Amino acid sequence: MGYHSLVFLSLLVLAVGGGAALAEAIPGGWSPIKNVTEPHVVEIAKYAVREYDKRSGAKLKLVKVVKGETQVVSGTNYRLVLAAKDGSATANYQAVVWEKPWLHFRNLTSFKPLLS
Ligand SMILES: *[C@@H]1O[C@H](CO)[C@@H](O)[C@H](O)[C@H]1NC(C)=O
Ligand SMILES: *[C@@H]1O[C@H](CO)[C@@H](O)[C@H](O)[C@H]1NC(C)=O
Repeated sequence: MGYHSLVFLSLLVLAVGGGAALAEAIPGGWSPIKNVTEPHVVEIAKYAVREYDKRSGAKLKLVKVVKGETQVVSGTNYRLVLAAKDGSATANYQAVVWEKPWLHFRNLTSFKPLLS
C-alpha cells in the first residue's frame, strides 16, 4: 500500500470514528442497536429484505442482522447491516427502514449491497 492510500485510510478511520462519537452526542443522531437479535429488529430486517425482493424481483433471504443503528426522526430510522442469501451466496447489505409505529407505517428507504 502506498503512502497516499495509508494517509487516506487513516483519515477515513478518523472520519468514521468521529462520526460515531458525534452520533452519540447529537440528538437525532444515530445510536447503535445493542441487541440485534431482538424480535422487533429482526422483523424490520425481514421487512427490508421482503420489500427489496418485491421491488427488485430478487430472491434474497435474511440470514441474520449483523449490526444496526437507530435514529429518532418523527418515528425511527433503522439502518441495518444484514447478511442475506442470494441462492447459495451470502452477502452483506445495508438497509434503511423508516418506521412510524403509531401509524403502522414502514418504508424501505434504501437497500444496497455492502462491499466487504
Ligand atoms: C437479545 O435479545 C434476545 C431476544 O429477545 C434475547 O434472547 C437475548 O437474551 C438478548 N441478549 C442480550 C445480550 O440482551
Ligand atoms: C418509500 O421510500 C421510497 C424510496 O425512498 C420512496 O420512493 C417512496 O415514495 C416512499 N414511500 C412512502 C409511502 O413514503
